[in-house]
Amino acid sequence: MGLAYHLGLGHPDLAGAELALLPGDPGRVPALAMAVGEARRIGSHRGFEAWISWKQLDEENRLPVAVVATGIGGPSLTTVAEELIGLGCKLLVRVGTAGAIAPDLEPGAVVVVTGAARLEGASRHYLPPEWPAIPDLEVTEVLLEAARVSGLPWKAGVVVTSDTFYPGQERLGPGSGPPAPWLAGTLSLWRELGAIAYEMECAALFALGTRARVRTGAVLGIVVSREKGEEVTPKGLEAGERGAVGVAARALPGLLELLTSASP
Ligand code: URA
Repeated sequence: MGLAYHLGLGHPDLAGAELALLPGDPGRVPALAMAVGEARRIGSHRGFEAWISWKQLDEENRLPVAVVATGIGGPSLTTVAEELIGLGCKLLVRVGTAGAIAPDLEPGAVVVVTGAARLEGASRHYLPPEWPAIPDLEVTEVLLEAARVSGLPWKAGVVVTSDTFYPGQERLGPGSGPPAPWLAGTLSLWRELGAIAYEMECAALFALGTRARVRTGAVLGIVVSREKGEEVTPKGLEAGERGAVGVAARALPGLLELLTSASP
């Protein structure tokens, strides 16, 4: 078989990895891969930075984990995730960042995602609009346990997946200005409904997972509190990224164990 079209990777590159950790930002891939174990770069086609890392289970046994950047948004994520599934991945976990909607979440806190509101388009290419975008329950339980023992502040709940960082998340667009009238007031609406954070990829990942019958999950680090402002600062970003990577690394044994049990 040839190379996956966008990733430029083939089966031998993945070394049999069935678990893929998926940050959005290519710059975050090396740190996440090295938090897993011994790691090496396997490609970077079209900016999709890709590494293989080896999780040491005991003295003799280790398992490969793919760490691949998805880029921003559902269209980009689904392209990467589809090709990873084609290359043999069976469990896909987004390790990303988010902006807090819940007033009690500060930068550095961690969110374990239990569902995603579909303020985006890519999930509709996989599921009818009535179907919820939800992750696998057992993957989510593993991520929850890792968050609990991490010592970090954390929260589980529904996120809002938005196709846009600016108008969809009710930010002043540097180009577009204030959000369009039909989006004005939606931040308070989501908060009232109990959504805990904004991000841009979960709904598409969960929809693809549902359709492909592949387990998915997501852990996100909070990089900004929308109660306090719109801007992501370098300090907030660093804290959020560190939190998500820490929880994902702790969850690895449990995630790898799920690969040995039957798929949903
Ligand atoms: N990612 C988003 O989509 N929104 C934020 O506010 C922060 C990260």
